[in-house]
Amino acid sequence: MVYIAPSLLAADFAELGRELRRIKRADMLHVDIMDGRFVPNLSIGPGVVEALRRRTDLFFDVHLMMEDPLPYISVFRKAGADGITFHAECGEPPQEIIAAIKASGARPGVALSPKTPVSAIGSWGEDLEQVTVMTVEPGFGGQKMLLEPLHKVIELKMRLPWVKVEVDGGVNLDTAPLCKAAGADILVAGTSVFKAEDPYLEMRCMAL
Ligand code: DX5
Ligand code: ZN
Repeated sequence: MVYIAPSLLAADFAELGRELRRIKRADMLHVDIMDGRFVPNLSIGPGVVEALRRRTDLFFDVHLMMEDPLPYISVFRKAGADGITFHAECGEPPQEIIAAIKASGARPGVALSPKTPVSAIGSWGEDLEQVTVMTVEPGFGGQKMLLEPLHKVIELKMRLPWVKVEVDGGVNLDTAPLCKAAGADILVAGTSVFKAEDPYLEMRCMAL
């Protein structure tokens, strides 16, 4: 059983209400937040998340690609985040970030950029509920999946068997089977879902 999380980044930003309706039967919504410093791109802020929250009950899986996520944990939680994921490479102490996420009532997760090993997760890993394995360099949608990081999915399922392992980047009908074979629990899919004529059919086929 694998969950599909469409990534809002690939949606038509001028038609967000309509885009939400197209993916209303998804398992969750992946929301990418970019600060222009941790990654060379900007996406959306808490105002947009809050506006979307008023339109849907979908689980919001918020992925913070930020250098300093700490001050923004409660901001995004209040805006409607259900799960909050920070990057292991962000430079702020993971213990503090996880404590802030837990205190906010959201589900804590960490993301590993393609070159970051599983060993970057220290003893603080015990408090995680989700780990995101990035299969593209973070910052942009529509990139080709890097296969090497998929080995980390297998390693994570052995080391932290209770966490949900998410794969993010380049997931489509061709690459989804590889992620599932490695043991992924959640597949983030931006371009493949939002650019599909029938997003629901695309998600169903990826989940098969
Ligand atoms: C990349 C983002 C991804 C991205 C995935 O930095 O974290 O969530 O939206 O997009 P696709 O599925 O198009 O690779
Ligand atoms: Zn993401």
